[in-house]
Amino acid sequence: MQSKIVLLPGDGVGPEVVDQARAVLTTVAKKSGHVFEFQTCLMGGIAIDQTGEALPAETLSACKGADAVLLGAVGGPKWDNPRAKVRPEMGLLGIRRELGLYANLRPVRGYTELLGSSPLKPDRVEGVNMLVLRELTGGVYFGQKFREDTPKGVRVVDTLEYYDFEIERIVKLAFEIARGRQKKVTSVDKANVLESSRVWREIASNLGAKYPDVTLEHQLVDSCAMRLVTAPGSFDVIVTENMFGDILSDEAAVLTGSLGMLPSASLGEGKLGLYEPIHGSAPDIAGKGIANPLGTILSAAMLLRHSLGLEAEAASIERAVEKALARGARTKDLGGDKPVSTSGMGEAVLAALES
Ligand code: IPM
Ligand code: MG
Repeated sequence: MQSKIVLLPGDGVGPEVVDQARAVLTTVAKKSGHVFEFQTCLMGGIAIDQTGEALPAETLSACKGADAVLLGAVGGPKWDNPRAKVRPEMGLLGIRRELGLYANLRPVRGYTELLGSSPLKPDRVEGVNMLVLRELTGGVYFGQKFREDTPKGVRVVDTLEYYDFEIERIVKLAFEIARGRQKKVTSVDKANVLESSRVWREIASNLGAKYPDVTLEHQLVDSCAMRLVTAPGSFDVIVTENMFGDILSDEAAVLTGSLGMLPSASLGEGKLGLYEPIHGSAPDIAGKGIANPLGTILSAAMLLRHSLGLEAEAASIERAVEKALARGARTKDLGGDKPVSTSGMGEAVLAALES
């Protein structure tokens, strides 16, 4: 099988971690007889520097013509001017929208070896295995927004908008995914305040009736935030609106000890998807060769699974990551007294893949 993968290394530690994931994909290709053709494109701050745009047309068309896209990270203090006309994040939001990637999958699981680095007591995080399913192309991120001068002062508006079909397709996906997991969906909203949430809840309840084998519960976003730290093991699939999902997924991600470990996938109607680690560009450690590449390597595994349909190959990467951890490889963020470098961790995964 021949597949085209667009790499968007982006900013900060992005290029360093994408390099390692590419090496892993190359080894998987060699072992399995598949051919992965890589094309590297500009996106984010680096694209602004070189072309003036966060998402150059050339990058977008390369992504549209690819089987999958692997992204490092975007943004950094250099481009962090609130009044700037172009921002690196616009590249990411643009890709999500242009490719119709409405479903963001953020699996969160605790690795036994890393329980000690969790901010929670180990017994609370033991066995955590949840999926945060975040709606990604609607809500307050993409609603009408503006600022205007009025006699009372400057008025700023951000609008939380949804069409019913946008809610329906993401909640339906939550039920489908839950069927292959622990069969439990927690639909998170703010139905005591927001009209959009009341509709969300109604749609979730109606769909729930069609999935009698899956348990559905509704939870308000504030109490969900609390439950994530008090009883994280009680979740299976969490499905929620774009901004709630943005916030809750960071909270969920840190429970397991390191943000650096977690992958994500953004999917639409077809096979084409965008894969990226949950962590950001980490400008404070960029260029030092100490970033944890595992979130990106595990994102590459999700890429093989969801966009290329290569389940066995995806699982082999996940096993190799577990093996590398079990053999003691730890980047600085994972603690340990003798941390390995970014490439050291990449090599540990490659060695585990070969063994
Ligand atoms: C994420 C990030 C992005 C988001 C930013 C970089 C625009 O926080 O992917 O969670 O808010 O969606
Ligand atoms: Mg976020």
